[in-house]
Amino acid sequence: MEEEKKGLSRREFLKVGAVAAGVIAAGEVLGTGSLNLLSRGGKASAGEAAAPAWPWPYKKLDPEAVQKAGYNAYYEGGCMYGAAKAIIVALQTQAGYPFTTIPIDIFRYGEGGMVGWGTVCGALNGSAAAITLVSGKADYGKLVNELMGWYTQEPFPSKKHDQYAKFPGQVQNACGSPLCHVSVTEWCKKSGAKVTDPERLDRCAKLTGDVAARAVELLNAQADGKFAAGYKPSDLFGGCMGCHVGKTSALNNVQGKMNCVQCHEPHKL
Ligand code: HEC
Ligand code: HEC
Repeated sequence: MEEEKKGLSRREFLKVGAVAAGVIAAGEVLGTGSLNLLSRGGKASAGEAAAPAWPWPYKKLDPEAVQKAGYNAYYEGGCMYGAAKAIIVALQTQAGYPFTTIPIDIFRYGEGGMVGWGTVCGALNGSAAAITLVSGKADYGKLVNELMGWYTQEPFPSKKHDQYAKFPGQVQNACGSPLCHVSVTEWCKKSGAKVTDPERLDRCAKLTGDVAARAVELLNAQADGKFAAGYKPSDLFGGCMGCHVGKTSALNNVQGKMNCVQCHEPHKL
């Protein structure tokens, strides 16, 4: 380790520093000699240091603090950025390194369901990234699945932000889908807002905090050994999956767990 520290010249550090500058406290990086961003194909070359092995150790966080942080961070970089930042900065505060090496700006692309395409909600995407960072192979899938399912059934936005939000007391809607397209459009329909209105942005800022807070609740439960999956697909489409989705289904011809009847008419055989 000592050698690696010396081996990392100032110039080399600045090279990666340009990418990482926003988040990495220089003292931390040089102090530990581990530069996550430098690893190529998982292996460090001379003068470089490998990232700590995945998953990184989780420390329990305060969901309410993360909820508010997510609301605020939405206004800096959108929904995926906001959710990821709320959780990762909380981990930086609780645990410091290696969480301090993550450049939060990599999560900007998720806004509007991937740069405005309306696919997966960015708050889900950012929260799922944070969950996966601190959960091993056996756990991240069940936690993310629970978050996705919960999201489809939850009336957003919560009232938890009403003390500080720009638009307290907004209309709530559960949209049945993890898609940004459905989530935003259905809420606009119900509230009368246009997609680019400040009211809609505030709704998504709150939602960002809500989803990040839920992710933290799930992680905390997992940390306590108390996580129990609660999500079940509704009967409206649970039956479709029996024939179309998965190895044990008759057809096994559909990828997905979304509500089929939001897009397809149910059919008779
Ligand atoms: C009992 C098994 C079964 C169930 C339950 C079932 N399907 Fe199907 N589905 C089929 C079969 C068989 C076909 C025809 C497959 C083919 O022709 O390749 C089909 C075809 C389809 C198609 C292709 C277009 C069409 O209409 O032929 C769609 C879309 C579809 N199903 C959606 C659904 C949805 C949505 C549900 C739940 C509301 C559902 N399925 C439930 C067996 C089922
Ligand atoms: C967000 C919308 C959406 C959801 C949700 C969705 N689908 Fe689809 N699905 C599509 C689109 C779009 C296509 C491609 C166009 C088409 O064939 O209708 C498609 C294609 C299909 C096809 C092939 C259709 C054909 O003509 O052969 C089947 C079967 C199907 N979906 C079943 C399902 C089942 C079962 C579910 C639930 C697990 C589901 N879909 C969920 C949008 C959706």
